[in-house]
Amino acid sequence: MRVLVAGATSVPGLPLLRELNARGHEVIGVTRSSAKTSQIEQAGAKPVVADVFDADDIAKTVADIGPEVVVSLLTTLPKRGPMRVKDFEPARRLWGVGAPNLVAAAQQAGARRVIAESVIFAYGYPTSGPALVDESDPYYGPPPPGGEAMLAALRGMERTVLESGEHSDTEGIVLRYGAFYGPGVPHDQMFARMAKWRLSLDMGGNGIVSWVHIDDVVAATANALDRGRGGQIYNIVDDRPQSFNDYTRELAAKLGKPTQLRIPRAVVKAVAPYGVLAFGDTWLPVSNEKAKAELEFKPVARV
Ligand SMILES: NC(=O)c1ccc[n+]([C@@H]2O[C@H](COP(=O)([O-])OP(=O)(O)OC[C@H]3O[C@@H](n4cnc5c(N)ncnc54)[C@H](OP(=O)(O)O)[C@@H]3O)[C@@H](O)[C@H]2O)c1
Repeated sequence: MRVLVAGATSVPGLPLLRELNARGHEVIGVTRSSAKTSQIEQAGAKPVVADVFDADDIAKTVADIGPEVVVSLLTTLPKRGPMRVKDFEPARRLWGVGAPNLVAAAQQAGARRVIAESVIFAYGYPTSGPALVDESDPYYGPPPPGGEAMLAALRGMERTVLESGEHSDTEGIVLRYGAFYGPGVPHDQMFARMAKWRLSLDMGGNGIVSWVHIDDVVAATANALDRGRGGQIYNIVDDRPQSFNDYTRELAAKLGKPTQLRIPRAVVKAVAPYGVLAFGDTWLPVSNEKAKAELEFKPVARV
């Protein structure tokens, strides 16, 4: 199948290009920068240069290619993850304007399906909840303080994708990924480096979130090309929700550095208040049953 991937050079993008190529698809990767086209070629895909903020440019690009499926891995966050709500400002614009331009382009080109990256924080930031959160109430948590517009843009992007099939031949699927870990994930590499120095962050709180290995993100996204139902959200997370502190404790033990000096939560909060809210206080242990049942998602538990 001919597949166009926007966000092709992102953390999950390059391994996804390789996986789709290995599965026999004809893969085209979008980048804004001609300097990054070689990365796309090395991952076995054909590069195309376009910017989703330019509605005419992306519409022409998608129409010329005529893909059966369009995958959106469009995010734009600081390399080491967001520390403050204002770090989401570029992503807010991308979700609010760029991603809808891409969906419109897919519709005009007659693509059969559009699959879009989202994140478990689209549920919001509740501080308590059920033992496992599933897709039945997709919006049950509140926004982070000052992050109302950011969360509205993320949820608005999701709705644009989910409702696409109601007024076009292009059905939409939203994948809510957990917090990434694994090779090539910059924040995971940073925590591993810190662990080697016997340092870790104390996020404290009673929060629990769901995580996902980058290989599982890639497999689930590739499966979604021809599995799952249009108009649906799927949580893509591993089987083990965990507090941030337990996650870094396991990482340190795995690296043979079990004794860690934890930088106190108050210090972390002063530098990264969003990080502490999302990874210290937020209750998002998320169910992957729907993805297992409908996308044949088989996460491999690793830390
Ligand atoms: N669930 C999670 O845990 C999660 C999710 C997302 C990100 N992150 C983390 O956040 C950090 C940053 O990741 P990121 O994905 O934001 O950055 P990234 O790795 O730089 O990827 C952003 C992608 O979006 C594309 N893009 C951005 N604006 C575009 C536009 N206007 N038109 C077309 N393409 C556009 C970029 O393309 P070009 O630059 O090639 O033009 C790039 O492929 C990483 O550490 C990552 O692991 C975590």
